[in-house]
Amino acid sequence: MDRRQFMNTAVQCLSSVAIAGVVPVSVVKVAFANPGADSARDFSFACISDAHLQQIRGNQFVARQEQALQRAVSEINQLHPRPDFVMFAGDLAQLGSRAELDHGADILSGLRSPLRMVMGEHDYYLDLGEHWRDLFGEPGYSFDHKGVHFIVLNSILTCEDWTLHRWQSAERRMAEMTGLDSPRMSPFMVGPAQRQWLQQDLDNTDKTTPIVVLSHAPLQKIRKDWNFWTDDADILQAMLAPFEQVNVIYGHVHQRLHSRVGNIQFNSVEATAWPWPSPQSARQAGSHLPVLTLPMRSATGPGKPAGWQLVNLHNGRVDVTDAPDVQV
Ligand SMILES: [Fe+2]
Ligand SMILES: [Fe+2]
Repeated sequence: MDRRQFMNTAVQCLSSVAIAGVVPVSVVKVAFANPGADSARDFSFACISDAHLQQIRGNQFVARQEQALQRAVSEINQLHPRPDFVMFAGDLAQLGSRAELDHGADILSGLRSPLRMVMGEHDYYLDLGEHWRDLFGEPGYSFDHKGVHFIVLNSILTCEDWTLHRWQSAERRMAEMTGLDSPRMSPFMVGPAQRQWLQQDLDNTDKTTPIVVLSHAPLQKIRKDWNFWTDDADILQAMLAPFEQVNVIYGHVHQRLHSRVGNIQFNSVEATAWPWPSPQSARQAGSHLPVLTLPMRSATGPGKPAGWQLVNLHNGRVDVTDAPDVQV
C-alpha cells in the first residue's frame, strides 16, 4: 500500500464512522521505503492529545471534552489497518484531580490498540504526578518497535523553587501553570535528571536507527509567554543531533505546527478539547522566534477546520486531511 492508498484507506475508515464533524486524530505512518513506494517494514500508530477532561461534580464532566475523547477512541478503533499502538500526548485532565485522571483512563481503556502515555502539565501540577504514575507508570521511558527507537519524555517539569516553595496550595500552583498566558508561569523543561537518563539511552542507540521522540511541550522554543517552550530545548536538540533521522511529535499547542531544526522534524498533534491560536497570530517578541531550518507552518488556527492528520515519518512531510475533505 503506498502513501496515497494509505491515506485513502484512513479516510475511508473515517467515512464509515457515522458521526457529525471530525475529532482531531493523527495517524503517523513510519515509512521505510522511498516516498511513493512501500515497504513491508512500514507501520502506523495513532496520536490523540489534550482531552482536558474537567469534572463538574461527582461523576459529571464537561460533556464536550468527554464526548470528544470518547469519539476519538471510537474512530481509532475503526481504523484499518489497526495502528500498532496509540499515543496519548498529554493533558488528559484539566485540573489534575483523581476523578479526571480516573475518568480519562477509563475512556482510554476502550482502545483496542496498546496505549502509550505522555504526561501533560494539567496532569501534573496538582499532586506532582502521583496519581498519573499510579495509573500509567513512569512518564519518561523508551521502547523499540519494528526498527524504530521511541523515546517518551516528560517535558513539563520546571525548577524546584517554583514547584515546591512558591504557592500556598496545590490548587493555586495548578491554576498558575495551566493558563495560556499566565504571567506567573515558569518555563517548562525536561530537567537534568531526565537528560542524564536520555543520554544513557542514546548512548545505547545506533546513530542510524530512526528515533521518534514523544513529548507534551514541544522541545522547541516557540513562544515563551504562552509556554509553547522548553527551556532546555537547545541541549536536547544537540543531544539528538548525531542521529540520522529524528522526529519529535508533541501535544500542548492545540494545533498542528510543522517545522525542522537541523536534523529534527517537529510535528504537533491537535487537541480533542479545543484549539489554541497560532503562536504567530499575536504580538510576539522577536527573541522568542526559534531558529528553524524549515519555517514553522500552522495547518490549523482560529476559524480553520480541525480534523485528521497523516504524518509520513520517512521524509517528515505532513499530509494534512482537513475536515471538508472528509465525507462523514
Ligand atoms: Fe493542553
Ligand atoms: Fe499542555
